[in-house]
Amino acid sequence: MKITIDGHQLEVAPGTTILQAARMVGGASVPPTMCYYSPGKLKDCGGKCRCCLVEVSKGSERDPRPMPKLQPSCVTAVQDGMEVKSGTSERAVKARKAVTEFLLINHPLDCPVCDQAGECDLQDLAMNTKDFKSRFVEQKRTFEPEDIGPYIQLHMNRCILCYRCVRLADQLTDGRVHGVVGRGEHAQISTYISNVIDNDFSGNVIDVCPVGALTDKTFRFKSRVWFAKPYDAHRNCTKCKGKTVLWMFGDDVLRVTARKDMYKEVDDFICNECRFDHKDPKDWTIEGPRKITGHSVQSVNNYSEPLKKVEMKVDDLILEGRKSDQKKISMVDVPLDKKDKEEK
Ligand code: SF4
Ligand code: FES
Repeated sequence: MKITIDGHQLEVAPGTTILQAARMVGGASVPPTMCYYSPGKLKDCGGKCRCCLVEVSKGSERDPRPMPKLQPSCVTAVQDGMEVKSGTSERAVKARKAVTEFLLINHPLDCPVCDQAGECDLQDLAMNTKDFKSRFVEQKRTFEPEDIGPYIQLHMNRCILCYRCVRLADQLTDGRVHGVVGRGEHAQISTYISNVIDNDFSGNVIDVCPVGALTDKTFRFKSRVWFAKPYDAHRNCTKCKGKTVLWMFGDDVLRVTARKDMYKEVDDFICNECRFDHKDPKDWTIEGPRKITGHSVQSVNNYSEPLKKVEMKVDDLILEGRKSDQKKISMVDVPLDKKDKEEK
């Protein structure tokens, strides 16, 4: 099937969504996503947040009329001859900005104390939205804290109801014990009758949650992510592939997460044993520093390319007088001049 996205023509298999086709094009044509997850990794995701809106200027070869409303690209299948405007559509960009503002109506702006800061999709979305400004001055909704076990911290105030954690539990566990309960403003992620989310793969909800609603209790308030250094590591595990990222500070493993691709989607889900029980570097074969591909604050100080040599062009005279100071500081036992020698 032929599709044109922002002037780029490509051919895709039937059943491909506009979002998947846009990811093949890359660059500014890729719409942002908050609830979508590639179907090969997590099934039935998408269609919830409306971040990925695009303008379909030609429906198909058979019916070339433009679609009157903007379409969520993650759940709209490509039609033969379709023409789509994504990054080039003023309407779509404006609507995405409005969606971002809507998402932030109830999401608290507590990034300074949130463990997800630096790797939060919503934070990145707001920061990447040109001239973003929230006009919401009313009271945000709040929820009573709920304890869902020793490993996962649920902070419902931050949830954007993307349903990813629900889909993950459906896919990886036999009996899901949490879900979205209530409707409208009262909709919330909960175990309803206080329960513990406890199964071998429950920790993966932390990795799929795009915001700080589900975070790792064993990493809570230990460090900002941009101070930790990520390393690819693996171990022989009988429950999962054991391929992880160790977030280290010096020789300490602060937390263990699954590896994510350029769209922040997990490559292979990992078990709780790898995630929570192996915080000793000796338990792991460390492959090397992880290449950071995102543009968030996480990439600060994580250089994946050699840095340019910095040359300081200063007049020699500027250092005049400082050279003796330098020598004094670095070679304290060596007398600087004759007078010094005599005093010693
Ligand atoms: S807790 Fe996180 S993953 Fe689950 S619905 Fe809320 S935002 Fe989505
Ligand atoms: S990413 Fe498409 S609706 Fe959420």
